[in-house]
Amino acid sequence: MLSSRRGAPTIGGGDEEDPTSTADASSASAEEPKTHPPATLTACLASYSRSLLSRSTIPPSFSSHCLAISLFVAFLFSLLALSLLLRFTRPVPCIPPYDPLARSVHFTRRLEGLASDFGSLGVPWCRSKQGRSVDWTPGDLIKALEEFVPIYETRPIQNNMYGMGFDHSFGLWFMARWLKPDLMVESGAFKGHSTWVLRQARPEVKIISLSPRHPEKYLKKGPAYVDPNCTYFAGKTFVDFGSVEWRKVLVQHGVKDFSKVLVFFDDHQNELKRLKQALKAGFRHLIFEDNYDTGTGDHYSLRQICDQSYVRGGGHSCFRDGDEARIRSKRKKFWDKALEIDELCGKEEAWWGVRGYMRDDFNHSNKAISYAEHFQNSRFVESVLNVYWELPPVAGPSLTHQTRYDPARATDPIVEDGRYALFQRLGLGKLDSSVFNGYTQMVYVEISP
Ligand SMILES: C[S@@+](CC[C@H](N)C(=O)[O-])C[C@H]1O[C@@H](n2cnc3c(N)ncnc32)[C@H](O)[C@@H]1O
Repeated sequence: MLSSRRGAPTIGGGDEEDPTSTADASSASAEEPKTHPPATLTACLASYSRSLLSRSTIPPSFSSHCLAISLFVAFLFSLLALSLLLRFTRPVPCIPPYDPLARSVHFTRRLEGLASDFGSLGVPWCRSKQGRSVDWTPGDLIKALEEFVPIYETRPIQNNMYGMGFDHSFGLWFMARWLKPDLMVESGAFKGHSTWVLRQARPEVKIISLSPRHPEKYLKKGPAYVDPNCTYFAGKTFVDFGSVEWRKVLVQHGVKDFSKVLVFFDDHQNELKRLKQALKAGFRHLIFEDNYDTGTGDHYSLRQICDQSYVRGGGHSCFRDGDEARIRSKRKKFWDKALEIDELCGKEEAWWGVRGYMRDDFNHSNKAISYAEHFQNSRFVESVLNVYWELPPVAGPSLTHQTRYDPARATDPIVEDGRYALFQRLGLGKLDSSVFNGYTQMVYVEISP
């Protein structure tokens, strides 16, 4: 049964306990017997207790000497406690987490040191009809990560340039496994890496793959993956997703219920167009690989559509002397894909889509849209959404060393900056840093008319 409701037995349930905190605690207690107070203090305490036992009076000079040493040691302990506190706690600013302006002002002072500041420039989020969300938890994601790393290491296409990297491979595998579809449809296969990921998630389930060029063509030049239990509409038999007679094709694959099919799009087509096509056909569960942020990418995405001034974390100010402009210009120095305000805003301050354009088909086509049209698109999307969930980045950039996407426009990562021990324990430290560079807010949506 394909459902995002909670209760997948294979992945265990919702344990958000930090696995490293236990390890840290046990190593701290193992250190305890080795630590002793300074010898002079010991002498003071011993002498003081002896004097209490013998009910003798302590000489005043000796007692003030002891007091001074005790105060000094207490001071040292306080310093140690304070430094540990600063090391293991994150700052908790008293500002709304997704209010871009408030966060911008707050973080301006921190930018010189440039902590990752996840979400500090706003994370627009598509609103769903009933406000439902997914039922997997950060704890589920962490457990699954540990399982996925060794699988990922066996991928046939080790260097999948122009295709999915680690974050999205994990997201696709995790969701396909959790949702347990009876059939998986993929639009945009390239050399077949995502087909391989889907296969790892559901070994017995049939796949339908649509791609203009058959992945087997790539085998002549290097590694590629061709799945033995996949129907390919590719090469000469290629049909675009929007032109397939889906009811007929599903019946041929022994599936009648569209809600048991997972559709994965990595074909760089306008996502509004794909959403409408999928809805018309009757599909319910969709994943979009490249959910590009406003101002970026080669097709109109759900993230762009839902970036609206009325949405928390959404909307932009093209004011050149404003906070957003100032912060963007600083972040540009650190993150390849961060945008300056001039790159974000086109003619007449059009910031929606990409500088006021709705792109499609690898930007082979694009169309200027008015703000009113952009607004209507968002209202339409909201009217058919049951669930909208963006995959978080796998880990913070201080761990992955990725330098491309700007964390200021992303949700908090699964493994937060500073959690080095967890990052290593999950096996993520073994992977080449280049595999963490391709994060573009992969999104899962559940839709209905
Ligand atoms: C970014 S690649 C896909 C990467 C792949 N999913 C992976 O994980 O490596 C985009 C693919 O979409 C294909 N494509 C282009 N137009 C398409 C269409 N209309 N329908 C399906 N695929 C299309 C391209 O030929 C290309 O193979």
